[in-house]
Amino acid sequence: MLITYNSEKKLFHLHTSDTTYVIGIYDEGYLLGLYYGARVTDDDFSAFCCRLPNASFSPADPVIGEHGFSPDTAPIEYGCNGAGDFRISAFSVRGAAGDNVTDLRYRAHRIYAGKQSIPGIPSTYVSDDSEAQTLEIDAEDAVTGVQATLVYTVFADSPVMTKRVIVRNPTENTLYLERVFSACNDFPTMDFDLVTLYGRHAVERTMEKRPLAHGLQGVESKRGVSSHAQNPFAALMRHGATEDAGDVYGFNLVYSGNFSALAECDFNGSTRFIMGINPNDFEWTLGSGEAFYAPEVVCVYTDKGLGEMSRIFHRFYNRHLIRGKFKTEKRPLLINSWEAAYFDFDTDKLLAFADVAKELGIEMLVMDDGWFGKRNDDRSSLGDWIVNEEKLPGGLRPLVDGVHARGLKFGIWYEPEMISPDSDLFRAHPDWHVHVDGRAPKVGRHQYVLDVSRADVRDYIYSMIASVLQNNDIDYVKWDFNRNISDAGSALLPPERKKEFFHRFILGTYDLMGRLVEAFPDVLFEGCSGGGGRFDPAMLCLTPQIWTSDNTDPIERLTIQFGTSLCYPASAMGAHVSACDRTGYKTKGDVAMWGTFGYELDPRKLSEEDREIVRRQVAAYHKYYDLIRTGDLYRLISPFENRFRAAWQMVAADRSSTLFTLVTMRKEENGMCFVRLKGLDPDRMYACAEDGKTYSGAYLMRAGLNVSEVIRRDGESLTLYFSAE
Ligand code: DGJ
Repeated sequence: MLITYNSEKKLFHLHTSDTTYVIGIYDEGYLLGLYYGARVTDDDFSAFCCRLPNASFSPADPVIGEHGFSPDTAPIEYGCNGAGDFRISAFSVRGAAGDNVTDLRYRAHRIYAGKQSIPGIPSTYVSDDSEAQTLEIDAEDAVTGVQATLVYTVFADSPVMTKRVIVRNPTENTLYLERVFSACNDFPTMDFDLVTLYGRHAVERTMEKRPLAHGLQGVESKRGVSSHAQNPFAALMRHGATEDAGDVYGFNLVYSGNFSALAECDFNGSTRFIMGINPNDFEWTLGSGEAFYAPEVVCVYTDKGLGEMSRIFHRFYNRHLIRGKFKTEKRPLLINSWEAAYFDFDTDKLLAFADVAKELGIEMLVMDDGWFGKRNDDRSSLGDWIVNEEKLPGGLRPLVDGVHARGLKFGIWYEPEMISPDSDLFRAHPDWHVHVDGRAPKVGRHQYVLDVSRADVRDYIYSMIASVLQNNDIDYVKWDFNRNISDAGSALLPPERKKEFFHRFILGTYDLMGRLVEAFPDVLFEGCSGGGGRFDPAMLCLTPQIWTSDNTDPIERLTIQFGTSLCYPASAMGAHVSACDRTGYKTKGDVAMWGTFGYELDPRKLSEEDREIVRRQVAAYHKYYDLIRTGDLYRLISPFENRFRAAWQMVAADRSSTLFTLVTMRKEENGMCFVRLKGLDPDRMYACAEDGKTYSGAYLMRAGLNVSEVIRRDGESLTLYFSAE
């Protein structure tokens, strides 16, 4: 049994193969989070129930007694606002009386096999009920009558737990949800570093680590999307934990909108961590009989360091998050027109790209931005999804057929949730953009955001896109989103519901995207948002790969891909070789090989020498496809810690092969460098394809490889493939 309830001790144990989470029902129905960590089966956690009762003016529960218990110092499972717990609250509801004091107590629970989906919000899944167990705990606030169901799922094949919350209003009155976080974890200590991923356009997901301090710290997005600026990921690393050892708790919110991930360390030296929808610019009116579904948080615990946390996320996302045909089916190796032509292309030019691409072994041509309306630059036409016949005479057909006739697949670009002020769509529907009456909305990249919180807007965009996909044998869609949301408001929302906008917008995105993905199961969808501005697990439920960054410089890409790999698998990371001249094509290919792999250049301009390198890369793509997508990643030398070089390794799940890559960011004159590999079987012999030698796993992991040659040359890379004999 993964989940058990001990009715005598009133304890829930949620076990995975390696972890245990313990929840207790305390006196007066207080729900306490008593333990999260490596597997423990004991049933006495009373020592963790109360901490320093009456310390520092913490108010006591009147029934339990002055000296017994304070909600301020107990490990509250789902911290509420205003009822004696002064730490940051996960939940706050305003009732008919107007106050927002909220105090949840246990009422009932259920344990069942499997995992349910969340209405309207993407989430992780099981293919069979035997793969997981779920616990639902119903809690209630006696005064407002609001009910919160805390939902926990643990998985049989992964040391992973998901947490989420459903709020219901069984009363006659209207209730107002002010804060509904998805997860709340109280830890008895504060001896952690907080790891988060900050960034900006072209510099996504930079790893940042800071020691927790008393008070509040964390990251948020108020940009309407998960954003370049902060990713909805956070990890707590116990002091002293490293890439390879020590306690690490990783949290990733399966949501693409405004989020908060906050840690508060209180006067007791304990830590509360909460993650969920950002309560800024949020309020939800919950009518009588209605329910509100919060997105889920994926929680990973390991005592084997940050690297193992990442591998757990990767395996779990490949099994239980990414779905559809392209979860398992091989994805085509593509060439994208953006950096090759920007807006300057026509049918002939694209077919000329296809000719060379075919000759090089590339499998799909993607026509990026600029094929519709009058779009010759980024100032117009978003929303007018009608072919520009000046560029593509006769429409899409001659181009798509021409590409298919050359034996390539064909992909197309959309930015569905946007509208240009200079567009026929805007002229026809001047209230379809996101705006607040009386204010001129800010423009971003000369565009407004289309109000996809509206069903009529979604239906229109759906039919425009669906008719193109239906009538033209499209194999791939790149779904872009190139600005953040300001002036948030919808013409259809009444004043009292204006603060629902951001969440409704994301629900609208999920609905629109979900309908298209479902209607076109054979189309490969790739997410994008000015590079990786919407790289989150919810998007990965809909698009199995996401363009990681507009920065295709292979040296800059190292930090971006290392950061992204903290929780997202290689199978999800869009990575292309471009014409950027910082390094040669070999290094560019070795870096892009870590991700989905493709090209972003004018293939006609490649020299014969570079064409030969590309042909070798195409062969390598096929050879290493399974290893990279299903193997285990080991980050050997991190560019966040080493200014000179980065190295990583993919290891087959059965340890039968490994691909090692090292890139020199900055050369070291006369330097020596030995890199010890990881994750191999010490007792097996591994043959190296490149040097023809055979090494034991023990040698490779303990003595290591002498890579001194390659570290002496700026921008050089070394890739070695080892297979077990
Ligand atoms: C931003 C994307 O990240 C690019 O790859 C490209 O598609 C442009 N948008 C097109 O406008």
